[in-house]
Amino acid sequence: MLPKLWHFYFFLTLAAGFIIGVIVGSYALSHDFASHEYLCTHDEGQLLNSTDAAVNESLVLEPSPSDLASMAWNESLGFGEILYVSMPDRTDRQDAMNLAASMSGFKLRLIDGIDGTIVSAKAIPENDDMKWGALKPSEIGCWRAHANAWRYILDSNMESALIVEDDIDWDKNIHQVLQDLSLQMQKNTLRVASPTDHERTSAPYGLDWDVLFMGQCYDEAHPNRRDLVQVYDDPNVPSRKDTEDIFLKQMESLGVKGNDVGKKRLISPAYGPFCTMGYAVTRRGAQRLLLHLSYLRLRGPVDMDMMWTLQEGKIRGYSVTPPPFSAWKVGGPKDSDNKPTPVGGKGNKGGWSRNIKSSARVAMVHELEMDNWKDYTNIGNGPEKQAQNDKTGAK
Ligand SMILES: *[C@@H]1O[C@H](CO)[C@@H](O)[C@H](O)[C@H]1NC(C)=O
Ligand SMILES: *[C@@H]1O[C@H](CO)[C@@H](O)[C@H](O)[C@H]1NC(C)=O
Ligand SMILES: *[C@@H]1O[C@H](CO)[C@@H](O)[C@H](O)[C@H]1NC(C)=O
Repeated sequence: MLPKLWHFYFFLTLAAGFIIGVIVGSYALSHDFASHEYLCTHDEGQLLNSTDAAVNESLVLEPSPSDLASMAWNESLGFGEILYVSMPDRTDRQDAMNLAASMSGFKLRLIDGIDGTIVSAKAIPENDDMKWGALKPSEIGCWRAHANAWRYILDSNMESALIVEDDIDWDKNIHQVLQDLSLQMQKNTLRVASPTDHERTSAPYGLDWDVLFMGQCYDEAHPNRRDLVQVYDDPNVPSRKDTEDIFLKQMESLGVKGNDVGKKRLISPAYGPFCTMGYAVTRRGAQRLLLHLSYLRLRGPVDMDMMWTLQEGKIRGYSVTPPPFSAWKVGGPKDSDNKPTPVGGKGNKGGWSRNIKSSARVAMVHELEMDNWKDYTNIGNGPEKQAQNDKTGAK
């Protein structure tokens, strides 16, 4: 009796298992097939049929993800995050930054700019060697906002972040520019120590630096170490006429002149950079900056003290020349947070930037331009008909 019952249950279980297996299996197959087909159609449709100029941009042609340098194509340009510092009332600049970054395919996190007058006198670091004298409220506010960005890096799990200000421009091929930079940083000949396994597998720009200057407004190389330079071809470098004299001079001092101008970019140990428009910081860099530019002292405006600290050799950095990030100017008081009246200037329509081959801000205006009513008129018309309409002025 007992063995028979056992047989019965055994076959029942087997049969039920088989039926369930067939149902689950066929569902999984059909489901997988359906979603796969949907994605393919969707992808091809987007790439081959779209007339949207943005889809044609090089942004879409992402290189293989196995390549470390291709991380420059991700939404934080291969850094942990991109932080931008902006005074809370400069919503005009915030709109512009979000718009331009979205068109270039990266994301930004806002770090609030700080009004220096609200920073408590007790919170201002010691200034024992009086290199600069008393800081202006605007200088205190600027330092505080950048120090908050460094703290944010330490509070998060990031290994590096790119910190930019809210009035910048960049090349519309910024991902390509940074991919080329990443390749160079991986074969960096200026390193003091060879890269760790972790850097080789996961750090597109290496991690052997504290600061990586990419938006300086002035720079000069160490006067006795002009041998320390890595020069490379970059098709997105601005021509001589689009490059400011400051950088032509810096390049010449490092051996790049004549026909090489407009073709080469340089990496050199940071020695004399001013401005905080664009610089990346590693975790160790954020720690060193908080140590030297807050905990121990603050001797001047944040960019000046960063430069002095670099010159003293207490932080390690590289400068990229010409810098990939540059100021966007509109003229007049809007170019500064410290000038009160918003009168004068050309506005974004008349704005400009230097040291950039193809301005992302200029490109974005063209990319978003359209003529909707003309598009309606053209529906169903062949090219000859369309040309005829254009000639007769038909709308
Ligand atoms: C989209 O492109 C494919 C492949 O080139 C073509 O077969 C299809 O007809 C196109 N669809 C439309 C709506 O243009
Ligand atoms: C897309 O790129 C192709 C090849 O570079 C070019 O011929 C075409 O005009 C571009 N289309 C648009 C909409 O920009
Ligand atoms: C981009 O790549 C960097 C480097 O691997 C990584 O730390 C970061 O999280 C990535 N960003 C995104 C949005 O995936």
